[in-house]
Amino acid sequence: MTTIKNVAIVGATGLIGRPIVDGLLASKLFSVTALTRDGTRQRGFPTGVAVKQVDYDSLESLEAALQGQDALVSAMSFEAIHVQRNLVDAAAKAGVKRMIPSEYGNDLLNPKLAAFPIYQPKIAIRERCEQLARENPSFSWTTIHNASFLGPDWTLDFIVDVKNRKADIKDGGDVLFCATTYQDIAQAVIGILTHLEETANRPVRISSVNTTQNELIAMAKELGATEGWDITHSDTAHLESEALRRWAEGDHSEAVIAMFINRAFIGKGWGGYFPVRDNDLLGIQGLDRDELKAIVKSAMDR
Ligand SMILES: NC(=O)c1ccc[n+]([C@@H]2O[C@H](COP(=O)([O-])OP(=O)(O)OC[C@H]3O[C@@H](n4cnc5c(N)ncnc54)[C@H](OP(=O)(O)O)[C@@H]3O)[C@@H](O)[C@H]2O)c1
Repeated sequence: MTTIKNVAIVGATGLIGRPIVDGLLASKLFSVTALTRDGTRQRGFPTGVAVKQVDYDSLESLEAALQGQDALVSAMSFEAIHVQRNLVDAAAKAGVKRMIPSEYGNDLLNPKLAAFPIYQPKIAIRERCEQLARENPSFSWTTIHNASFLGPDWTLDFIVDVKNRKADIKDGGDVLFCATTYQDIAQAVIGILTHLEETANRPVRISSVNTTQNELIAMAKELGATEGWDITHSDTAHLESEALRRWAEGDHSEAVIAMFINRAFIGKGWGGYFPVRDNDLLGIQGLDRDELKAIVKSAMDR
């Protein structure tokens, strides 16, 4: 049976990369090596992580860095997803057994979402993984779909800003969506690396909790934020057509990307809620209502 010992990670100091590294180290199951553009920037890498500088434009540099690695976890930033193209090829050539490309969001196998321009770089990387796994059976991949991050700085800011009592309610605010803590995303990585066969060459869908915008506002109100809310309303069908128009005109700004993301994940009848999840397989326990409320409270107190 194949076991994973040596794990390389890209984006080890990033928003989701750091909690993944912390989880891998805490499990004491793996030796962790961070690949980075700038090896002189040693700060930010936790103790116990080996650091290797790589040149993402050089297949040879990447292949050399990945020699002896059993798995490669990418937490590459949204803006640099395409940079993973050489990384995937190098991983397969170097004998990496499992690659987890940088996804950590919506379910891009949902055909509605797959049509959006913002997701094409992630889809292209997954398709390259699929091709390499067909050509080389010792290489395999898994993508992690967690819908929204759940932390004081994400769902409780981007979706409902409970600290500043501000929210743009989409499609009435009762659309159920999945949200996942950084710790549970790290647990998904560990679960994949310890359940290789069950997770080979497929997406896994996870969540810590399922909630709605209106529920989050109600929780904040129960916690004392009763007055002074700045609430606006949007129709995500309108956001979608506006985003498509502006994208076609060359506007690839964060505002346009946010319109696509909102449509994809809290649009009524779209894709931010996964009815079937891999939580049990991967060891993700999820949160109860009190635990969700505690996260809302910590976001309010920030
Ligand atoms: N579902 C959600 O709510 C949600 C929210 C945010 C992000 N995400 C997803 O999570 C993934 C990671 O995002 P993140 O926000 O954690 O990333 P991040 O913190 O912005 O960046 C992660 C790392 O990517 C590397 N990087 C950035 N630009 C690069 C470039 N041009 N060339 C090479 N390396 C580069 C850097 O590593 P080095 O400096 O070490 O080289 C950086 O630390 C993405 O797929 C993103 O779409 C999902």
